[in-house]
Amino acid sequence: MDNESIIRQTENYAKEKLSGEGSGHDWWHVYRVWKTALHIAEHEKADLFVVQLAALLHDIADWKFNSGDDSVGPKLAKEWLEKLNVDSKIISHVCDIIQNMSFKGAGVKSLMKTKEGMIVQDADRLDAIGAIGIGRAFAYGGHAGREMYNPNEKPVMHQTFEQYKSAKGTTVNHFYEKLFLLKDLMNTKTAKRMAEGRHVFMEQFLDEFYKEWEGSAESVQRPKIGVGVFVIKDGKILMHKRKNAHGDGTWSLPGGHLEWNETVEECAKREVLEESGIEIKNLRHAGFTSGDFFPKEGKHYVTLYIVADYDSGEVRDMEPDKSEKWSWFEWGSIPKPLFLPMENFLKSGYNPFR
Ligand SMILES: [Fe+2]
Repeated sequence: MDNESIIRQTENYAKEKLSGEGSGHDWWHVYRVWKTALHIAEHEKADLFVVQLAALLHDIADWKFNSGDDSVGPKLAKEWLEKLNVDSKIISHVCDIIQNMSFKGAGVKSLMKTKEGMIVQDADRLDAIGAIGIGRAFAYGGHAGREMYNPNEKPVMHQTFEQYKSAKGTTVNHFYEKLFLLKDLMNTKTAKRMAEGRHVFMEQFLDEFYKEWEGSAESVQRPKIGVGVFVIKDGKILMHKRKNAHGDGTWSLPGGHLEWNETVEECAKREVLEESGIEIKNLRHAGFTSGDFFPKEGKHYVTLYIVADYDSGEVRDMEPDKSEKWSWFEWGSIPKPLFLPMENFLKSGYNPFR
């Protein structure tokens, strides 16, 4: 049997075994780990066949559901792969990965030896953090009959697998006992990068959780940072009509969200290129607005403005799902209605040609 068919059959086997499972260890968890492992493997040199088999089979029999026995999973995987006549070296590699996959307590060192194993372990751990990780933690807590949170119970850093296995703590404590530690336990560079944002998201989640617990009405929401760009060419500026987002139907400058680790200038160049296909030069700061409120959409923006000269390229509608049309306008005849942040900014009397 060729590798492709072995993967297909193993996918079906895992699907059959785990579909409909309710504790966050269902087929879709396996599916995400599989896809994430492939994504990481693209950036790291690894045997994709082994990576995929280990990802697909890694939760076929988790110790959490086999009275703490962590030898059932590798055994089942071995039987399955032998049935498909997979090479015995590959089988033992895959089983070795499954054996060493899971988190066994804050103080217990992982024994993952191969690149392939590190990748699948990273993918599994990425699925335990971020928005999906939060969802899975509470799903598992409910499944195991745990309290969601109890302010009187403090987290415990388990030093052995035995302690960790028999722990009965709350789901919120699980964040401290495991989920917040995972970022620093990632094996590969790619996964480390992916873990950053998911980690921060969990911290924000708990901030909000504790505030609501004590009846605080104050939200931990923060404004977002938008960047708008006045692109000048032949005495005109470039604008587009927005669609399918807040400010639908209004006219706006090219621009977008400032990304993590990005400067305003980098953001301006990137957004203009992504949206309209052109390059810009001579970027200057034009000013900002801080009160761009969209109460209906629950959004608050601080918008930073850049003015720049057209450099090269032909204007094309690169994101037709977001813009209705693009055009150059003279300052005296810019179209209405304007996108709110731009309308707010122009109240200051700003003129890009002065
Ligand atoms: Fe898993």
